[in-house]
Amino acid sequence: MLVLGFESSCDETGVALYDQERGLLAHALYSQVEMHQAYGGVVPELASRDHVRRVVPLLRKVLQDSGRSLNDVGAVAYTQGPGLAGALLVGAAFAESLAMSLGVPTVPVHHLEGHLLSPLLSAQPPRFPFIALLVSGGHTQLMRVTGVGEYALLGETLDDAAGEAFDKTAKLLGLGYPGGPALAALAERGTPGAVALPRPMLHSGDLMFSFSGLKTAVLTQVRNRDLSDQEKADVARGFQDAIVEVLVRKSLTAIKDSGLGQLVVAGGVGANRELRRQLDAKAARRGIDVYYPELEFCTDNGAMIALAGALRLTSGTPAKAAGSFAVRPRWPLDLRD
Ligand code: KG4
Ligand code: ZN
Repeated sequence: MLVLGFESSCDETGVALYDQERGLLAHALYSQVEMHQAYGGVVPELASRDHVRRVVPLLRKVLQDSGRSLNDVGAVAYTQGPGLAGALLVGAAFAESLAMSLGVPTVPVHHLEGHLLSPLLSAQPPRFPFIALLVSGGHTQLMRVTGVGEYALLGETLDDAAGEAFDKTAKLLGLGYPGGPALAALAERGTPGAVALPRPMLHSGDLMFSFSGLKTAVLTQVRNRDLSDQEKADVARGFQDAIVEVLVRKSLTAIKDSGLGQLVVAGGVGANRELRRQLDAKAARRGIDVYYPELEFCTDNGAMIALAGALRLTSGTPAKAAGSFAVRPRWPLDLRD
């Protein structure tokens, strides 16, 4: 069966068509980054309006690229939450009405479940069970994933998410929005150890995180100072090294405690090169396999939503009749069902 997927939880509109037998047939994405750049962050109302503008052209492109028509679609999946309420409503309303007009059912999907399962889009996917490190702009979580829909929360951040810390720190360094990739690029030019920053909760004895203090530590480094380009790069490097060390150490602890041999890294921060370098090196020494989504599926996209919808159906979650719906802007993943 073909599952059409829509993602609209934040500032990316994503559409994809996934075949339960053959895998991903086509996907298309529009990022609103440029529009929000002028404001230094996502403006929810503008995001909603832009999703309205983008969704139909993206759908047309996906149908064209896949050589399929709407009549081939067997179910429509969409992001039900968490995310920006207005943005979610655009995707949900569009998906539900389209499904209704086609006479097919819908599958509301949890955005983080999409991220979590996105490495399964790779040619060499992980197998259940595995430990997942979910590091996005809104979440930092370690989960034990036993199967589709079977997610146990092992630890999470007490305050800022990893991506949020990257974005806020980038702002302090005058790097604009979205800051994560820009800060990571700047950090590559920084000198390791030149700026030493704390490793929050590294020795907390559990799998919890806290990143807001790190951002404050950066603030004390940059406040009232006119930093040279190299000094900025050194601060970026110090920040990235601190956050990466904590993420890597806690992920390896989660793996060790679980007795499992596979770690899946998902979410936007999973695109971070230093995080990948450190994890790969340390995991290899311990005989752990690390899986990442393809780079294009690290950040928000429609493919992971179509995939999650398709896997939900395969694993026995009943599709719902199209028509009525509600979005869930706040929605913990381990309370999915
Ligand atoms: O998963 P995602 O696209 O959206 C959410 O669901 O939040 O993640 C976006 C987050 C942003 O905070 C962005 O700055 C961060 O991922 N990010 C990165 C990198 N690429 C994206 N952070 C660090 N290094 C990167 N290379
Ligand atoms: Zn996301």
